Amino acid sequence: MNKPLDFGIYYDEIKETFMLQMEGASYVMALCDGYLGHVYFGKKLGYIPGKDALRPKDYTYLSGKPADKCVFMDGFPFEYSISGTGDFRVNALKVRNDDGFVGGELKYISHRIYDGKKDLKGLPHSFGKEDDIKSLEIDLFDKDLGLTVMLCYSIFRGLDVVAKSVNIKADRELYLEKVMSSSLSLQWNNHELITLHGSWARERIPDRRVIGHGITSIGSSRGISGHQDHPFMAVVSQDADEDTGEVYGVSIVYSGSYLGEIERTQHNELRINMGINDDGFSWKVSPDDDEGFAAPEAILTYSDSGLGSMTRTFHDFMRKHLIRSKYLHKKRPILINNWEATYFNFDEEKLLEIARVAKKAGIEMLVMDDGWFGRRDSDNCSLGDWTVDRKKLPNGVDGLCKKINEIGLEMGIWFEPEMISPDSDLFRAHPDYAIQIPGRDPSWCRSQYVLDITRKEVRDCVYEQVAEILRSSNIKYVKWDMNRPITDVGSTVTRAGEFHHRYMLAVYEMQERLLNEFPDLLLENCTSGGGRFDPGMLYYSPQFWCSDDTDAIERLGIQEGTALIYPPSSIGAHVSICPNHIVGRTTDLKTRGYVALLGTFGYEMDITKLNDEELQQINEQVEMYHKYNDLVREGDYYRICSCSALIHGNEYKKSYAWMNVAVDKSEALLTYIQVRGGANERSEMIRLKGLQPDAEYELPDGRTFYGDELMNIGFLTDKLYGDGAGALYHFVRRK
Ligand code: GLA
Repeated sequence: MNKPLDFGIYYDEIKETFMLQMEGASYVMALCDGYLGHVYFGKKLGYIPGKDALRPKDYTYLSGKPADKCVFMDGFPFEYSISGTGDFRVNALKVRNDDGFVGGELKYISHRIYDGKKDLKGLPHSFGKEDDIKSLEIDLFDKDLGLTVMLCYSIFRGLDVVAKSVNIKADRELYLEKVMSSSLSLQWNNHELITLHGSWARERIPDRRVIGHGITSIGSSRGISGHQDHPFMAVVSQDADEDTGEVYGVSIVYSGSYLGEIERTQHNELRINMGINDDGFSWKVSPDDDEGFAAPEAILTYSDSGLGSMTRTFHDFMRKHLIRSKYLHKKRPILINNWEATYFNFDEEKLLEIARVAKKAGIEMLVMDDGWFGRRDSDNCSLGDWTVDRKKLPNGVDGLCKKINEIGLEMGIWFEPEMISPDSDLFRAHPDYAIQIPGRDPSWCRSQYVLDITRKEVRDCVYEQVAEILRSSNIKYVKWDMNRPITDVGSTVTRAGEFHHRYMLAVYEMQERLLNEFPDLLLENCTSGGGRFDPGMLYYSPQFWCSDDTDAIERLGIQEGTALIYPPSSIGAHVSICPNHIVGRTTDLKTRGYVALLGTFGYEMDITKLNDEELQQINEQVEMYHKYNDLVREGDYYRICSCSALIHGNEYKKSYAWMNVAVDKSEALLTYIQVRGGANERSEMIRLKGLQPDAEYELPDGRTFYGDELMNIGFLTDKLYGDGAGALYHFVRRK
């Protein structure tokens, strides 16, 4: 008997079949009359399979009756389909020729298999050591259009992940009207769909539904990935829970307008697409463009052991292959941000006062938020004028920074580089710098317009202003904000159909430039909270401000949804003041600390107003952060209890609980938060996860338990009193 195939990419010439062999999954494609079909993605197979899944006998076209080609085109499980010639399902590619006609047919011409992975120029992308990655490129060709479509696949040692991207070139002028980064065919078998929906201050809330016939889609046409839908879909078996069931995860390394769509077809096949939103998209390709059009990278994961395993696969993938920052594996400085403390109403003395108290409490950095530049006393002016307001800061940013450093804190600063206020010197000098349709009054949002950074001179102008501040002071951290969607798409240089994507390429270029010039800078992205928290931005910044909603109880759902695919080390989370500014709720300070611990950790409050007892608690939280952050940041994350729609039955739950378990299972932190207290309710017996079954674990109070006891019988939580009460349990494996 032959040896089962190891990690690698294989091509069987006789079967004309490609097989991507991962740790526990296989991805298989095969040729049929030159068409590339999708055979399988799922639990690992030992050997290259046959291609019955392509149903070669179902299409009379293949038995020599060309009249039925249309039946073939509409039924064949194309790996990458193109519209206009009979495939009426949601297609991956739509190409219009110069005469306005749409139609194409893609046939295999060649392929290459190699170690490592190529960069996607100008776009965020996964990376890794040559030894740990195998890649495959398949060229498909349409002879009538002169169009070459290169499908790129990469797999990663130890992970059930396929990264896909597409590159398109043409030997004449053509317009790409839809380019998906990934298309996947599955046979529907009672599968359900999990997505993350949201709104401002309510980002990434899990949603789960049956996949009905027809098309279901999520997306954004806002020019940012957005607060509303999220660029992520999981197609799961009906029984899928944390530990069992089949789960297909799809995400995209992109931060602009995107589209995720699923069609359950007439034959109960699922076609699952993810890529740039085709709404208004039209990209011109021409023979003199040597690089071709590169679609952003899509990330596909597979798990046959439930959602928990999908989550940990995404976390590992992002930590190993996507987040580049040198701070990724470092404990981030505990920062205090003055936004909720002062809003626009601060001056140097107020910030120094906060810094002095913060220093005593053990906080390590002060971040000066919005309001330090131009005449910015409210949100209706000065964006674009990145010169210090001397009324507030008579000694400039540099002078303030020196004083903060003398107190013993590092300093960070807020910018919103992509924006321009109509009431700004920049706008008065260059009204054309704002994105607008000639002759139409553009829509305002937060009293501001978006800069047309697709123009180099605009990018340079704003970049230089930001860089000048950083060059002239000892700033260690930047919060890069973006507070409105893009409307009124018009530009003096960029074609409307290309605008959104070129805008994103410009944002990526600016952030790349910033990191190149200031390699030690800790960058945190932000978009009115978490409106552009996506894999694309994490390529540039190791952390993202998760949400403007800092209420600890609301954050339980928001952070759970975020951590569904993003590692805790990337989640910007702070303790803020009560009653909470957004929802008006008061939650125990201890619980606020526990919730912020599942992230980068920091404060968002006027610490000078706290009493001694509260300051003492902050001291303890600082210690807690230093004690547990390595475990939270580097460990494996397990959802234990949840009230969200992620798993059937969660609607009966009253608590959230999660665990951060050391990779070697030597210790684990359990956080348990009771959302609402109830009368005559008993303490909860909850089953823990991820422990070593035969090891003994000890709590600080001396109680000991076996791993298998905690994972099968469960752990009896303390009886907690009141809404939002929380507890933290640190289990350490005994020697
Ligand atoms: C956004 C951010 C906030 C804050 C304000 C400042 O809303 O999410 O944290 O920085 O902008 O205007």
